[in-house]
Amino acid sequence: MFAKVPFTGIGLKPSLGSVLGFVSGLIIMAIVSAIMVKDLGEEKESLRKEVDFMRNTLNRITKIAPLRLLADKNGIQIGTCVSSSHLADRDYVETLTREFSVVTTENELKFEIVHPSPNSYVFEPADRIISVAEAHGMKVRGHTLVWHAQLPSWIVNGNFAKEEWKSILREHILTVVGRYRGRIWAWDVVNEAVDDTGSLRDTVWLKNIGPEYIELAFRWAHEADPGALLFYNDYGIEEVNAKSNAVYNLVKELLERGVPIHGVGFQMHVSLDNPPNPKKVAENIKRFTDLGLQVHITEMDVRIRLPATIDELIRQAQVYREILEVCLNSENCTAFVMWGFTDKYSWIPYAFPGYGAALIFDENYLPKPAYYALWETLFSRAIRNSPARTETTGS
Ligand code: G3I
Repeated sequence: MFAKVPFTGIGLKPSLGSVLGFVSGLIIMAIVSAIMVKDLGEEKESLRKEVDFMRNTLNRITKIAPLRLLADKNGIQIGTCVSSSHLADRDYVETLTREFSVVTTENELKFEIVHPSPNSYVFEPADRIISVAEAHGMKVRGHTLVWHAQLPSWIVNGNFAKEEWKSILREHILTVVGRYRGRIWAWDVVNEAVDDTGSLRDTVWLKNIGPEYIELAFRWAHEADPGALLFYNDYGIEEVNAKSNAVYNLVKELLERGVPIHGVGFQMHVSLDNPPNPKKVAENIKRFTDLGLQVHITEMDVRIRLPATIDELIRQAQVYREILEVCLNSENCTAFVMWGFTDKYSWIPYAFPGYGAALIFDENYLPKPAYYALWETLFSRAIRNSPARTETTGS
């Protein structure tokens, strides 16, 4: 029903199925040994060398089978947001293109940046991200067409009649979506339109157009690119609660009115202080499946109060693993996207002072326990689900 592909195995000889246990063991040993080395101090030089050996071995293995290959074998996309300002960083681009199959534009397609004044559009930063993606066979999630934040002053301070507001938004959507027609896999058409109480958020769009701006935005996006998947995206809707109930009712009504909406994005910005309950997330995803909608995890990060301890990094890995497992177990969850991948560049320390270390690679692009947790989850499922080899006998 959804875009998940059948399992095809990972293209390794079955005898390598036994590698699974070995690799899982290596990961556990690398993590445990790292803790021991830290606790036991300098005198454990030989242990340190063994840890280095295991890490090098692991790095080689994960480079042969990076996350995107394993995600593909599990029928989902794995991704990250990308900022055009980091594309000159070679390690950033190398890691990005090696590991991920889908990218989301972090800021470049937001109204403020792409449409800064009434008659000017600035596409160059978004174009640069999309070129990198296309050159490496990655899909693109366009973010975002209608939002209350990162708006230019001509919109924030605009004084127009209702019909003018509608034609401004229509022209914006037709221009931006139309420019990338056939090249953007999925759009976050409307972002964060519901507030925490479950009411429609009081935004410039609601005030000036009325609640129908949501329906209109989806219809115009579909008109501009009938092949693109169209999403409603929000935070704090991971579990069943007042806000996710409101989003559920909103998208259900849209579907009943024949509005072209294909999915809901669960942002999944979470804190290690209060991680989501995977069972409750699964239960929530299920009701959107029953509406016939896809779900994407769109902006996952797991912030930790700094400095992060090894114990916290391991618990963080568990949170990433649990959400990936929920996604893999949900028929309609077709993408697992994080809000960045290296702690070198993340919005968290700016937005949550005292917090950070939220992503799966550290500042030096070294994989953290969370990376290995995702890797091992995808790898073990790919092996487990690969078809048994039929022995052929020679004549
Ligand atoms: O580009 C300017 C730069 O010229 C200026 O010197 C600098 C000074 O502060 O600001 C730069 O702009 C910043 C921009 O990110 C680019 O880095 C803005 O101040 C800053 O507010 C903006 O933050 C973005 C935030 O959305 C705005 O709300 C984050 O990068 C971006 O990661 C974040 O993404 C949002 C999603 O779109 C929606 N879901 C939540 C998520 C996290 O807030």
